[in-house]
Amino acid sequence: MADYEDKLLDHDLDGIREYDNPLPGWLMGILWGALIFSILYLGYYALSFGTDDGVAEYRADTIAQRAEVQAYFDKNPLEPPAAEDLLGGAKTAEIIAKGKERFIKTCASCHGEAAQGLIGPNLTDDRWLHGGQVLQIFNTIAKGVPAKGMPPWGRALPPDELAALVSFIRSIQGSTPPDPKPPEGVAVLPEPLP
Ligand code: HEC
Repeated sequence: MADYEDKLLDHDLDGIREYDNPLPGWLMGILWGALIFSILYLGYYALSFGTDDGVAEYRADTIAQRAEVQAYFDKNPLEPPAAEDLLGGAKTAEIIAKGKERFIKTCASCHGEAAQGLIGPNLTDDRWLHGGQVLQIFNTIAKGVPAKGMPPWGRALPPDELAALVSFIRSIQGSTPPDPKPPEGVAVLPEPLP
């Protein structure tokens, strides 16, 4: 710093003087570098001056990944459990407890804590929109009714929990929770438990 000389400004405020020294080169370098980088970055990514269209790339990736997932599902179809196992589960305390736990976590937001119906239908009455046999219930839960707001759970939950959910729902058939949603669908006689 031999060739360096402090530059004092003229003004004086109660004896306080001010330097007018330039900022160090490295600091200005970072400032200008960041400024130029941000303009190039914005132009390239946000305004698509670059040849590479980020949105198109993102869409193409998403489509490719969906196709991969679909190919996996096609190769590994979801096998429904046996109806007897689902009905047997409806008499087995641990399975009912497991199904209930999952139901409270995942389904109660739409079907109510006691499955009395909220956004989704009441699951304790004898009326069903998509069939009340345990295999039909399994099918509805696994595939969902996306157009009507019932999500498909077949790939989101493990098979034992899907089965436990059906057993739990079968076990609360005919329970009469408070504030039930009015019945929807056709009456179905529940299958007898083994
Ligand atoms: C985002 C809201 C939502 C969630 C979460 C949800 N459901 Fe549903 N569910 C619905 C709606 C809405 C329907 C009615 C579909 C129709 O009208 O066809 C339905 C229908 C059903 C049916 C068919 C009822 C019938 O009458 O045939 C079953 C069984 C069912 N849901 C079980 C479940 C289970 C089990 C879960 C948790 C894993 C769950 N639902 C989570 C909204 C939901």
